[in-house]
Amino acid sequence: MAIVSEALTVEELYYNYPDGTAALRGLSFKLMPGESVALAGPNGSGKSTLLLHLNGLLRPSRGRIAVGGKPLDAAHQAFARRYVGLVFQNPEDQLFMPTVGEDVAFGPQNLGLAGEKLRERVRSVLDQVGLEPARFLERQSFNLSIGEKKRVALAGVLAMEPEVLVLDEPSAGLDPRSRRRLIRLLKDLPQTQLVATHDLDLALEICSRTLIVEQGRLVAEGPSEQILSDRVLLETHGLELPLCLMGRPDR
Ligand SMILES: Nc1ncnc2c1ncn2[C@@H]1O[C@H](COP(=O)(O)OP(=O)(O)OP(=O)(O)O)[C@@H](O)[C@H]1O
Ligand SMILES: [Mg+2]
Repeated sequence: MAIVSEALTVEELYYNYPDGTAALRGLSFKLMPGESVALAGPNGSGKSTLLLHLNGLLRPSRGRIAVGGKPLDAAHQAFARRYVGLVFQNPEDQLFMPTVGEDVAFGPQNLGLAGEKLRERVRSVLDQVGLEPARFLERQSFNLSIGEKKRVALAGVLAMEPEVLVLDEPSAGLDPRSRRRLIRLLKDLPQTQLVATHDLDLALEICSRTLIVEQGRLVAEGPSEQILSDRVLLETHGLELPLCLMGRPDR
């Protein structure tokens, strides 16, 4: 029997910020290749802190992370950056080149893509996130709207074709049509996905499994239909039923 290695493994992860805030307190979970998993939890529960560990931007205070079967240590840092594509909660933290075209091209260029292949990759990911290349390639990144910035940041990560996509609040600030497009896009992508979100309707639609974190600990995990329809569980952890399940008398 073939042994399938996990796309991502997090074991007993602890993280304290330099000011002493204990943001992660012994968190463990695994993602299997191709899985799409939601990470839900109230404000300040540690979701973004966790995601920043997954390609090595933060180093655990204690615990172990492996990506693609390799330990995330100094020797595998470059591999992890390539393997895990992280889209930040705040797109302003991600965009740094003057124009949209340069920003999206930056990653694949560093991976050796050039010329027509590079231009084609950039156009194709802009199309995927619903930003018409002819209108957006030359736009200045800094004066885009927040929703446009979010989509450029996602395009920049998709352009690197990572094995694992880690998205922090991807639908926050998107208009309804852009959110719908994002849901369709994420559903169609073959990559393993971990999506931190307060949009539990999105979680229900695209993620087969949901993890709930509170105060830096995993407090529940299971199939999304089960976790996200459990009103008592959600309310115990500061969350609410997805809107599409609200009004159902049996819940
Ligand atoms: N740079 C920092 N220095 C000190 N504490 C921090 C820092 N960044 C975050 N924290 C704290 O770490 C904890 C976890 O924060 P984090 O941003 O990971 O939460 P979150 O679950 O992503 O919240 P949200 O839903 O609001 O995005 C919070 O208590 C937060 O105040
Ligand atoms: Mg966050």
